[in-house]
Amino acid sequence: MNPRTVTDRVSLLGVIDWDRTIFDSLIPLPQGTSYNSYLLKGSEKIVLLDTVEPGKAYILLNQLSNIDHIDYIVSHHAEQDHSGTLPQVLERYPMATVLTSDKAKPMLLDLLQLPEDRIHVVKDGDTISLGDRTLKFYYTPWVHWPETMVSYLVEEKILFSCDFFGAHLATSNMFADVDPLVLESNKLYYSQIMMPLANFVKKNLDVVETLDIDMICPSHGPIYNKPRFVLDAYWQWVTGLPKNLVVIPYITMHHSTLHMVERLTAALGNLGVTVKPFNLETADTGQIALSLVDAATVILASPTLLGGPHPSMANIIAIAALLKPKAPFLGFIGSYGWANTTVRRVESMVEPLGKEWLPPVTHKGLPNEDTYAALDRLAETIAEKHKSIGLAG
Ligand SMILES: Cc1cc2nc3c(=O)[nH]c(=O)nc-3n(C[C@H](O)[C@H](O)[C@H](O)COP(=O)(O)O)c2cc1C
Ligand SMILES: [Fe+2]
Ligand SMILES: [Fe+2]
Repeated sequence: MNPRTVTDRVSLLGVIDWDRTIFDSLIPLPQGTSYNSYLLKGSEKIVLLDTVEPGKAYILLNQLSNIDHIDYIVSHHAEQDHSGTLPQVLERYPMATVLTSDKAKPMLLDLLQLPEDRIHVVKDGDTISLGDRTLKFYYTPWVHWPETMVSYLVEEKILFSCDFFGAHLATSNMFADVDPLVLESNKLYYSQIMMPLANFVKKNLDVVETLDIDMICPSHGPIYNKPRFVLDAYWQWVTGLPKNLVVIPYITMHHSTLHMVERLTAALGNLGVTVKPFNLETADTGQIALSLVDAATVILASPTLLGGPHPSMANIIAIAALLKPKAPFLGFIGSYGWANTTVRRVESMVEPLGKEWLPPVTHKGLPNEDTYAALDRLAETIAEKHKSIGLAG
């Protein structure tokens, strides 16, 4: 990618990584991603905002080939997808100083072994003058790590948000406009990176809302030239009611649990509740995480294997515990062969999530009419619980 003009003072640099399929060795990237870097030109100072994945350093250095002088390099976040090319950029520009938060400085020293005298700490609310332009820093901890901050180009009303509002999306479009596909990628990113930190995200949304913003330039995915589009979506994800939706991660070895899932799904559908079942044998963890942004109820469905839930279920419980979805209701259904031990095991595993535990439905072997009736009752309970928190029936 060549540098692209955002405004006459702001250029988009960085890398569109079409081929990347996984992030942090954890998050599937169905649409690739990008590492955005921005160059700001004031009448007196030139600033580079963030860098790129270290393996892609050559692309950023090529983009800077016509730039002889950089005064400051702002590092909003110490994670290597944005900081990883700082060593090469500092070498190319010996006059440049890294500006970063107080918590990021020691992290940059630890992670990249940068020379300490090249790093200058900016405080929350500090400004730097670029001549006829001003850059102001706001500490926004925990979007994504404890040291994260954002910056605001005052005269142009542009927010540089780094991971905050980012989307794992490789696209040739520079602007998001109001493209629903961008929002879907953004929501996928939110579900895995931001949802576990929703309390911090809310505080930082409050900070961002004090600013008059014409454009949000994140470090992943396209630029929000209509920022209300992404701000409103974030408010809904963070503080809005969940949807009238039940997510059912399930696994089955001999189909008994599957029959139970099918019955519950049908019964909920008849009551006007949307259901998303995910077979853990094949399901994309990212899609489960995405659905957890909206779910009001999660029903875990697993047979008993060696006295406990199937390991695939244990894995998804561990992931759900990390993601901290807002769903207030949680339950369990499943089949066992000789000892009904799994339900207790699962209950103790999910206790830290602090959810309301719905009456479990378990059955020895193939479910019978009594069990199907119990599943119908569970569906009614779920529908009533949803109504009780204001979700349409
Ligand atoms: C590998 C394996 C281990 C099992 N371990 C247990 C167990 O510890 N306790 C138990 O009650 N049933 C155990 N079962 C029996 C299953 O829980 C039972 O067959 C159940 O109906 C399977 O549900 P499914 O058809 O949804 O796979 C085990 C079955 C398999 C295949
Ligand atoms: Fe990050
Ligand atoms: Fe990132």
